[in-house]
Amino acid sequence: MAAKKKEEGEMRVKKIENGVVIDHVNASKAPAVLKLLGIDSTFPGTVSILMNIPSAKFGLKDIIKIEGKSMAENEINRIALVSPHATVNIVKDYKVVKKHAVKLPEKLEGVIRCPNAICISNREGVPRLRVEQQSPLKVRCEYCERVFTEEQLA
Ligand code: CTP
Ligand code: ZN
Repeated sequence: MAAKKKEEGEMRVKKIENGVVIDHVNASKAPAVLKLLGIDSTFPGTVSILMNIPSAKFGLKDIIKIEGKSMAENEINRIALVSPHATVNIVKDYKVVKKHAVKLPEKLEGVIRCPNAICISNREGVPRLRVEQQSPLKVRCEYCERVFTEEQLA
């Protein structure tokens, strides 16, 4: 009975050939993750989004599968801003060849822009924000010194 249930669960979205699978995303945070990765209506590739699905570890979770995409380290760590327990699986020829646990660095250097529109870091240099608190998230811009919450960053 349990085996049958798992089989049905796995049929929601099939395995991908090449690309990335972002797993263990906090429930209902998939749209925020896509936004942080800059994936919007202009993205040409196939993206599968699963929201609020049962997970053995965390209750409900989201999963995002992006076909044909590779991911740089700073993109991977950006996910930690909205989903600190996410796992980024790199898939090649249907196999998971690398599994990254996302990690929120103390300092976000060139990872996100400062939400303050008039901040100097948006015009020159590399934006630098310091993580002052992980949960709930609080980051401070090193240029304008303003403090932002998760909602303000997403
Ligand atoms: N996956 C996929 N396509 C592939 C390989 C894997 O869509 N070709 C998906 C799996 O369905 C799963 C995730 O990528 O959602 C991670 O795969 P895997 O490491 O095989 O699963 P688990 O061992 O369960 O992962 P974890 O231990 O991180 O929970
Ligand atoms: Zn700033």
